[in-house]
This record gives sequence, structure tokens and C-alpha cells, in this order.
Amino acid sequence: MSMTTTFTRMALSASLALGTVGAAQAADEDVKMGFIVKKPEQAWFINEQDAATQVGEELGFSVVRLGGEDGQEVLSAIDNLNSQGAQGFVICPPDVRLGPAIMNRANEYGMKVVTVDDRFVGGDGEPMEEVPHLGMSGYKIGQQVGEALVAEMGARGWDPQEVAALRITNNELPTAKARTDGATDVLLELGFPEENVFDAPQQNTDTSSAFSAASPVISQHEEFDHWIIYALNEESVLGGVRATEQYGLEAEDVIGVGINGSGAAFAEFSRENPTGFHGTVAVSSTKHGRETAENLYRWITEGEKPPANTETSGTLMTRDNWQDVRDQLGL
Ligand code: GLA
Repeated sequence: MSMTTTFTRMALSASLALGTVGAAQAADEDVKMGFIVKKPEQAWFINEQDAATQVGEELGFSVVRLGGEDGQEVLSAIDNLNSQGAQGFVICPPDVRLGPAIMNRANEYGMKVVTVDDRFVGGDGEPMEEVPHLGMSGYKIGQQVGEALVAEMGARGWDPQEVAALRITNNELPTAKARTDGATDVLLELGFPEENVFDAPQQNTDTSSAFSAASPVISQHEEFDHWIIYALNEESVLGGVRATEQYGLEAEDVIGVGINGSGAAFAEFSRENPTGFHGTVAVSSTKHGRETAENLYRWITEGEKPPANTETSGTLMTRDNWQDVRDQLGL
């Protein structure tokens, strides 16, 4: 018997000894991808990474969870993935204008890239169509926010002329602008006075930067007793709500409506006493995580490039229905 035959036999019996590990699964064990997110501590992103890891367990590939809170961190995450033998990554970038730099690095390593949530913008200011993307239908979801705000103002019998709108903005991020524009357009169409809309530009997409942005705006307009609050996500709306509380406004004088439907909203709805955080348009972060990871896996293993742009939709979640919506969306 030749050395090769002996070796093959040994390898064969070793793999048989592994029992349940089938041939297909063994072959796919080589597939490894990164899942890089801009805010690894936020519930939305934790859930996306969990969902990606889960689909990897089901289909037989591994997911390396990484944070990339600035350009340097993202580039070293890509180097790290390359040294681990990953064939690609899903990313929600900390700044969409990093797209070209991220793609240069990925191309050097021959890695495939899919974006989730925040879409890369090229040097020409346009979305980078060549990189497959999955994210919210920002404008439509923003319109749902506007409708929810108008409905709740009506339910509370507020006169819009006497209400201030706190619009927490992040205009460098196109999906953020689309979302707040959608909400503003609905408010104005339904008769909300434009001069009562006040901008609070945030530097980041989290609660503390929204709180810092909101505080001075609220204190500059103490003539208003009633406030509505909206932003690109619920974390930011919560920052605005916390700022109104600090300023002494009561929960019944504030209507905040966010976007996401993640742990941040669940915690707020679970409080014994309602706060000014009225609701949030929930989108399935589970779907975002699963679909992007699965799409990248098919691209790596079958050469099938995912669609250029997939948009997901949302459902209004309030204190009254949040558990049902959470279950419907698989959160
Ligand atoms: C952006 C926001 C996140 C979340 C995602 C969803 O990245 O910062 O909070 O809303 O979009 O697409």
C-alpha cells in the first residue's frame, strides 16, 4: 500500500469518526466572514450580529463579530479578517464616505463586501451601486414616524400651532436625512407650522450625542409647553426625551417617536410609568443580519452577487403592542 493510500484511509476514518459532520458541512467550514458594525454596543447591531452568527450555524459558515467605530478601526478589522482567512465581510460603516477606502483595502485582499443599514457613498457623492446593500426604506419609514406623531398629537388634543418639533438631524448620513425628511414632509403636509420645527444636529447616531444636541434647543424655546421629537433612530429620540425630562417637562407634554424597535425601545416600554417616548417604527434587525450574511455566503460559495439595493419596511410599535410586534418581526 502506498503512503498516499494509507494517508487517505487515515483521513477517511478520521472523518467517519466525526460521525454526524456531513461532507457538505465539512466543505463549508472554510467559509468565514466578518460582520463589522459602527456601534457594537447598540442593541440594534448586537441583534444583527447575533442573527448573522445564527444563520452561519445553520448553513455552516463562521462569522467574526467586529466593531469599527472609525476609519482606523475598520481598516484594522479588515486586516485582522484577512489574517484569519475570511473571504468577505458585511459592514455598517461609521462614516459612509469611507466607502472608497474600505473597498480599496477589501479589493487588495480579494474580499467580497456587502453593506447593511448605511450605504457607501463614492467620491462623486452618489451611492456606490457596485457594493450590494440592504437597508431601511428611510423616507417611507420617516413618513410613518410623521403619521404617528400627528395621530398622537390629535389623540392628546394638542393645537399644532402651540407645539414645537425637535428634529434631531444627522444630514451627512443619507439614510438619516431620508428618514427625518419623510417625517417632516408628513408633518408639514398635515398642517404643522414649519416655523415650529427646530433642528438639533447630532455628531453621532447615539443617545448621548442626541442629548447634547437637544438640550440647548429646548432651553432656547421655553415658550413651548408641548414637544414632539423625531430623529434617525430611537436611541437619538431617547436622548431628546431625556433632555426634556432634565428640563422639567412632563411625560404627557412630550411625544417622541423613534425608528428601529430594538432593546433600547423595549427597555423604555417596560418601565412602570410611561415616558415621553411614545413609540418607534420597528424594523427587523434579525432580517437585516440574516439576509446580508446569507447573501454574502451565497456570493462566496456560488458566485451569485446579491441585489444592488434591498429596502426593508417598518411597523409602528407603542407601549400597547410592542411585545406582539417584537414577536412578529422575530426580535
Ligand atoms: C443606522 C442607524 C441605526 C439603525 C440602522 C438601521 O445605521 O444609526 O440605529 O437605525 O441605520 O438601518
